[in-house]
Amino acid sequence: MNDADLVARRKATLGPTYQNFYDQPLHLVRGSGTKLWDVDGRQYIDCYNNVVSVGHCHPRVVEALCKQAATLNTHTRYLHAGIVELGEMLVARMPAAIDTCIFTCTGSEANDLATQIARHVTGNQGMVVTESSYHGVSELTRRLSTDSYPERDRPDWLAVIEPPNLYRGPWQRDDPTAAQKYLQQARSQLDLLEQRGHKPAAVMIDLVWDSNGPLVAPDDYLPGLCAEVRKRGGLVIADEVQAGYCRSGEHWWTSDVYGLKPDILTCGKPMGAGHPLAVMATKRAIIDAYSEQYHYFNTFGGNPVSAAVGKAVIDVIDSEGLLQNARETGAYLEAGLRELATRHDVIGDIQGRGLFWGLDMVTDQETRTAFSESQMRHLGSLIVEQGVITGTSGRYGQILKLRPPLVFSRTDADQTLAAIDSALRKLEL
Ligand SMILES: Cc1ncc(COP(=O)(O)O)c(C=O)c1O
Repeated sequence: MNDADLVARRKATLGPTYQNFYDQPLHLVRGSGTKLWDVDGRQYIDCYNNVVSVGHCHPRVVEALCKQAATLNTHTRYLHAGIVELGEMLVARMPAAIDTCIFTCTGSEANDLATQIARHVTGNQGMVVTESSYHGVSELTRRLSTDSYPERDRPDWLAVIEPPNLYRGPWQRDDPTAAQKYLQQARSQLDLLEQRGHKPAAVMIDLVWDSNGPLVAPDDYLPGLCAEVRKRGGLVIADEVQAGYCRSGEHWWTSDVYGLKPDILTCGKPMGAGHPLAVMATKRAIIDAYSEQYHYFNTFGGNPVSAAVGKAVIDVIDSEGLLQNARETGAYLEAGLRELATRHDVIGDIQGRGLFWGLDMVTDQETRTAFSESQMRHLGSLIVEQGVITGTSGRYGQILKLRPPLVFSRTDADQTLAAIDSALRKLEL
């Protein structure tokens, strides 16, 4: 069967929501660490997939999964040590005061539950998110995902604030009062929310603003925003689906990078290194208040196989020093990217931390005109031709996104930088 046949069968059988990256879709058949291989045996460096946090098919994760799958897999209505141990391992790493976990399978479910809990315990209905946010696919989390539907369909309980983009946003790096101006804009959106009859139940923030960037907020912005929401009776939900699990290279959670003390923290993607595992973690008093009225049972969430995988992922991160690797290899990658920017005018800006970087691609440094979708697609194809897999994001789809597994090495970084360099040279010809 050739790729064209597979594409045709895929189109015939699956909904049009299944899209492929690249004009010539990659047909991957094997992965190991940071490497992927296609059906023709060609090797790629994976500089995009954070879900496989500890690398593709990590032997210890695979072993834990197989062993538990061959022993027992049920649900959480029976006593089993796995889910308790995973919960304990996570709580030991959580930001201050977060001491209780509820496991789900996806980040969407975790954010959906977080929103329901915040609404119940505060008695408020309003939710605060940023422009071009993404928080999931359930009915509720889709409404919180302002990048997923037209502005005119926004519910009146939603306050949408400007993310602190110091390159592309209304207030930029050269303005020392930028943080205050972003905060002021948030305050006015909160005022409008209240005028529409809704007090905030919570602000939900993706702490890397992945769908906008990644972005790095000015230091005093997030504490100010959280204080403002709390003053009006709302909770703080840190969506660490993208930002968590050592991605920043500084702490397990980006909440701790900013000194935030969220009331609820959600995570998903990296927790199972490819296995569907996610969590909604909060303070005991909050979940107790919710549980007085509601039950929550997630058929697959936290089952013995998922728990075994989740524990193995944490063990690998610790024993292989992957937080430190994210910091050190991330710094090395950053230095290389900044050097590239000195030679390629199409790199307008670089933002990120640890092993999550975004290059804001522009056709003109002065006007900051963003690369078009087709220019970004072309750039991605030129990079993949060099054997490196990258991604795109950003409000205009103009960000070249680098977000590799945490086992990314200096050699991987060198090859990635060389591939981007070569692609940009071809692009500029
Ligand atoms: C910041 C953020 N939150 C939530 C989600 C939803 O997670 P899931 O796809 O596991 O439902 C995503 C997924 O991309 C995400 O990036």
